[in-house]
Amino acid sequence: MDTHLALLDDAARRAEQYRRTSTTRRVAPTTSEIDALRALEEPFPESPSAPADVLAILDRVGSPATVATTGGRFYGFVNGGVLPAALAASWLVSAWDQNVALRVMSPAGAAFEDVALGWVLDVLGLPRTSGGAIVTGATTANFCGLAAARHALLERAGWDVDNDGLFGAPPLRVVVGEEVHVSLLKALGLLGLGRRRVERVAVDGQGRMRADALPVLDDRTIVCVQAGNVNTGAFDPAAEICRRAHERGAWVHVDGAFGLWAAASPRYRHLTDGFHDADSWATDGHKWPNVGYDCGIALVRHPDALRAAMAMTSAYFAPGDRREPSQFSPEMSRRARGVELWAALRSLGRRGLADLIERTSSHAQRFADGLRERGYEILNDVVINQVLVSFGTPEVTRATVARIQEDGVLWCGTTEWQGRTAMRLSVSSWATTEDDVRLSLEAIERAAR
Ligand SMILES: Cc1ncc(COP(=O)(O)O)c(C=O)c1O
Repeated sequence: MDTHLALLDDAARRAEQYRRTSTTRRVAPTTSEIDALRALEEPFPESPSAPADVLAILDRVGSPATVATTGGRFYGFVNGGVLPAALAASWLVSAWDQNVALRVMSPAGAAFEDVALGWVLDVLGLPRTSGGAIVTGATTANFCGLAAARHALLERAGWDVDNDGLFGAPPLRVVVGEEVHVSLLKALGLLGLGRRRVERVAVDGQGRMRADALPVLDDRTIVCVQAGNVNTGAFDPAAEICRRAHERGAWVHVDGAFGLWAAASPRYRHLTDGFHDADSWATDGHKWPNVGYDCGIALVRHPDALRAAMAMTSAYFAPGDRREPSQFSPEMSRRARGVELWAALRSLGRRGLADLIERTSSHAQRFADGLRERGYEILNDVVINQVLVSFGTPEVTRATVARIQEDGVLWCGTTEWQGRTAMRLSVSSWATTEDDVRLSLEAIERAAR
């Protein structure tokens, strides 16, 4: 075997060993495995190392200190576990090492991206004429959608924000729900619209924005709605909000990092009613669809608004006459993220994606039922894959979660929900089985005793 092949073969063997053990090992690494990362803190080597030796260090030091998010019992944040087809695709795409800035730099990368974006619009039920970008995550996707909104509203007001900036521009208003995700506020900050300079709308007990509490809107306003609250999974009443916003010429942006994928499921699609009417959408491939990290998707009803905010040209960097990936995204050089999105969707198909959404949501329901039966309080209506649990006082809930994390059978975190401290479960991985839920319920019960 030539040395290059032997190296890749070694990587495959180590990855397979990692994958196998990730279903049985502790979910979070031990303190000593984390401490062992100090072995990395050596001076920058003077001489080269054999690639096989580099890989061996990576596996010996790195693998044990990873969190087993691919194993089926990680319920923290909203993290998927990479699908087999997406993992394999990411290896091949790394071997290609394509820069998908311009089509001429990677016809393949651009084509996979085009197709993947088209499929996402299709399966999410969004206007097929929308444009988009494949970016690093929903934070950047929010940034893209809001940049398009900023461009479009200010252009309508006779102001060229992309060239002249915000100094002296007609002021824009931004309306968000009290339960806005922090990443959206960060995106507003990056765009000069201000994290704090927002009008907050009251929400109901599930965190849904109250349409009846919206301020008077106008054509200089961006209204940000949410498909899937990060704690409860709840959906804002988008149809009513879009109707009111559009009557006044406002722009509606959707943060649908994970919840928007409910549209892929016949059982849950109704939750996304009305989101189709918005002007821009942000979602993630790396959350519910289980594309590997990282993969976010920005979509904009009128692609020209996104292009105007993102495009750049130079004598040596001239776009062709078809869609150029980097003309729609914040980056110039960019990896061929669309390939892994394509691979995940191609392997799932419409039915597989619906099944993934429905299976993980059923597991969430199993968690809620099992914990309620054991006498613990479920704080949210479990509408999709998110469950909030209280074990009593904030101290008791926090101590219980600490024991769960220490025990290692599963991993989940805590949150604060409308004045209550809660354990937060998010079932987002294709790899989670009924057995995982059973083992996890037993471990939670042990920790709570
Ligand atoms: C509703 C919502 N929006 C945005 C984000 C940020 O996503 P990302 O981490 O992919 O940037 C998250 C992450 O959990 C989220 O739940």
